[in-house]
Amino acid sequence: MAIVDAKARAQTGCAAVGIYENGDLGIAGRHLDKQLAGLIVGLTRSGDFAAKLGDTLMLPLPAGSSAARLLLVGFGTRASFGRKQYRKALLSSAQALAKTGADDAVVYFAMEPVPELDVQYRARIVAEVFSSQAYRIPDLKTSPKPKARRLANISVATADARAAKAAAEGLSMGAAIGSGVAFARDLANLPPNVCTPTYMGARAMQLAKEFPSIKTKVLDESGIKALKMGAFLAVTQGSVEPPRLIVCEYRGTRKNTAPICLIGKGITFDSGGISLKDPPAMDEMKFDMSGGAAVLGTLRAIAAMKLQIHVVAIVAAAENMPSGAAVKPADIVTTMSGQTVEILNTDAEGRLVLCDAITYSRRYKPAAVVDVATLTGACIVALGNHLSGLMSNTPALAHELESAGLRADDRAWRLPIGEEYVDQLKSNFADIANVGGREGGACTAASFLGKFAKDLQWAHLDVAGTAWLSGAQKGSTGRPVPLLVDFLIHRAKEPV
Ligand code: BES
Ligand code: MN
Ligand code: ZN
Repeated sequence: MAIVDAKARAQTGCAAVGIYENGDLGIAGRHLDKQLAGLIVGLTRSGDFAAKLGDTLMLPLPAGSSAARLLLVGFGTRASFGRKQYRKALLSSAQALAKTGADDAVVYFAMEPVPELDVQYRARIVAEVFSSQAYRIPDLKTSPKPKARRLANISVATADARAAKAAAEGLSMGAAIGSGVAFARDLANLPPNVCTPTYMGARAMQLAKEFPSIKTKVLDESGIKALKMGAFLAVTQGSVEPPRLIVCEYRGTRKNTAPICLIGKGITFDSGGISLKDPPAMDEMKFDMSGGAAVLGTLRAIAAMKLQIHVVAIVAAAENMPSGAAVKPADIVTTMSGQTVEILNTDAEGRLVLCDAITYSRRYKPAAVVDVATLTGACIVALGNHLSGLMSNTPALAHELESAGLRADDRAWRLPIGEEYVDQLKSNFADIANVGGREGGACTAASFLGKFAKDLQWAHLDVAGTAWLSGAQKGSTGRPVPLLVDFLIHRAKEPV
């Protein structure tokens, strides 16, 4: 990815320019139109291109033109053109480009002013969108793979040196985010007989090899036992796959600052255990490690962009299976915090592994703790597949995450936690039960975690509805990596 000067006649396989519905060319389009002797204006006047948002028209240009092709991209109306529309226009461009033989392209319309998006952000989104468009599932199909067309190079046109510098920064940030998202998607898309807790640990070790700024340690069952993580151990005890507690520390600052801890649910397969799930869609429970994959992907992204921040990613990885050795409904376990839990439903296993990981994070004296989990079906009932659930005991932290989600187009919506929900978790036999009935299931699950977070500045992202797509589009989305990275980018700017 590179920057080109909009005024120079860049030699390229394709020049992408935006047009508003009223025929207005964006800033860059005007430059290019001059070079093409009014060709673009002529096309829109003829009514051949309506320029509705996301419309595209690919035109071959005569030999001797600086660009081999021209891609017209509809912006819709100027009044409605904002962050979302900009993204949509880019996505359409990426899709249109993928269908051509062009192996490089210049996106001219990243010069276009967009409300709330500076040039760095606009370039960053170019890289993010093209990277996600180029993503391919690591499938195990034996039929020969159709040759995936991959654009070798995407450039962004800018008007001056200052903009060029900001755009170059944006492009490299976007590429780093793209690599983190792809890392998370790859892990989650793998079958559960490949992506086991052991495998996740090995991938985290690899990250440390690739980035000297990352140090990884992986605890095995005996290490987890030594920590007295009774809840975590209860979840794993029915499986023949050994559990892993994965800890990856990224240091991007020389100063000894309190870290942000990112905690991920890493259930590599959730059968429900003795409280066995119904068969329909049980295969999708291979995605139940998506939170863990996301925190590792986030670390990869910030390491690639050398963000000046201190972050510790903690993944509680285990398989939840039924067997003669499995935890039973009514079993009582002692968590690392000392609190006892009555396990009334073995399918509410996410909160069990997370509560011990949250307690473990205390040893880092974190400035903030954010856990990420495909925690409840109830969260999907509440928010659908569009927004992640966000719960927090610290309003300022919730606000930071909410804003990051908006900027990154990876939104989260705040849901309540607290006493009323904790009351639903009363047990006659232990300090707390692991389920609190059907009503407000996402909120009782988060409130359970809140009993372990206590005084920590803590937030929880329930990504049950957003971490993967079902149906024909089945596959990991890599969410909420974009939200988390944006949150950390903004945290890194704060003076500490
Ligand atoms: N991993 C599931 C949550 C889930 C279900 C995510 C479907 C995405 C799609 C979690 O471990 C679970 O089973 N939760 C139970 C909790 C219940 C037993 C209180 C649920 O949501 O049904
Ligand atoms: Mn479950
Ligand atoms: Zn689960």
